[in-house]
Amino acid sequence: MNIWIINGPNLNLTGKRQPSVYGNRSFDDYMEELRKRYAPITFHYYQSNIEGELISAIQLAGEDADAIILNAGAYTHTSLGIADAVQAVSCPVIEVHLSNLFSREDYRHRSYIAPFTKGIIMGFGLDSYRLAVENLVGR
Ligand code: DQA
Repeated sequence: MNIWIINGPNLNLTGKRQPSVYGNRSFDDYMEELRKRYAPITFHYYQSNIEGELISAIQLAGEDADAIILNAGAYTHTSLGIADAVQAVSCPVIEVHLSNLFSREDYRHRSYIAPFTKGIIMGFGLDSYRLAVENLVGR
């Protein structure tokens, strides 16, 4: 199985920014654990702070991946371009968030991406990604 994990803006700062919201572990460190834990799975990990680059990555993943796990960060709440890209791919996309969006500001309650995803996992910190993988391997 080939899973693409795509992270949007500021998620490269995970572990450093707002640790009370996003935790204090870096994503690279977590990725290492995920790869070891699910050794038979091929993970492609991509992160960008740039909307167009994320759209291109989703298009590319759509050609290659069995599934995509996407945390579009703040673009979740603003980007029709990313939503369109998600709608265009044929493999399942799981939306994940570290934090529970519904316990935060109102402007984080809207996801433009959500209608085109298989489902959303949020609020479990980095474990949200593992829970998404569990769903995919259990299929
Ligand atoms: C986030 C939530 C977004 O609202 C925020 O802009 C992020 C991270 C999360 O994983 O909890 O950058 O996607």
